[in-house]
Amino acid sequence: MKKKVNQVIIKDMVESYSKNANHNMRRPVVKEEIVDFMRTRQAQNTGFLKELEDFARQENIPIIPHETVAYFRLLMQTLQPENILEIGTAIGFSALLMAENSPHSKISTIERNDEMLSFARKNLAQFDSRQQIELLEGDALEVLPQLPDNHFDFVFMDSAKSKYIVFLPEVLKKLKVGGLIILDDIFQGGDVARDIMEVRRGQRTIYRGLQGLFDATLDNPDLTASLVSMSDGLLMIRKNVANVSL
Ligand SMILES: C[S@@+](CC[C@H](N)C(=O)[O-])C[C@H]1O[C@@H](n2cnc3c(N)ncnc32)[C@H](O)[C@@H]1O
Repeated sequence: MKKKVNQVIIKDMVESYSKNANHNMRRPVVKEEIVDFMRTRQAQNTGFLKELEDFARQENIPIIPHETVAYFRLLMQTLQPENILEIGTAIGFSALLMAENSPHSKISTIERNDEMLSFARKNLAQFDSRQQIELLEGDALEVLPQLPDNHFDFVFMDSAKSKYIVFLPEVLKKLKVGGLIILDDIFQGGDVARDIMEVRRGQRTIYRGLQGLFDATLDNPDLTASLVSMSDGLLMIRKNVANVSL
């Protein structure tokens, strides 16, 4: 029988994001017609993933855009990571997408927002059919140190952008040598390539945090890093040695 997203969930209004949605979601750094092509031409989600994706778009919850969905599908099917860590669960969409495409992976996903947690709990209870996903409730700053070292093969960082550089040392401890980190939304609608004086005042903490992240990673011989102009920018980082100097 086809699973349906709980109608109670669909009818609930999401308070956290309708007000605070990141405006960079609507400032793609790639030509708009190419973004449209990537979003419409690549295989669409079906079943519960489609319903969750539609719900998130309708409620302005910033889940990964469709081009990243297609990319993650391919990555997960190819890499089949044993242990995955995600920072920023929201309603559980990307965690469930990874679980669907890598059926033997164990996924730990961290979320601190109460409203998102209540959606995530319901969605994981309903759709995580192989019980692959563990929801870790709390701020990543407190949860990360409790996780085992050298354990994860793949980390998806999709939380507050100014904190990426703060979380990175702890995340690197948790990642195996040869493991991969993907950080989402690192172009900030192109702001990162501008002078700080051209960036809106309210966005400057994020700007400084991201510049610190680029300084620490892009030329670091202990890491291999690549910027990918997909969605609002992905930074992909491979851990090359056991003790990374940042
Ligand atoms: C962009 S959304 C995640 C979307 C999700 N990865 C997806 O694509 O389906 C970011 C989430 O990170 C959470 N978050 C931000 N900072 C956090 C922190 N320090 N610890 C835990 N969660 C955090 C927010 O509450 C929000 O729900």
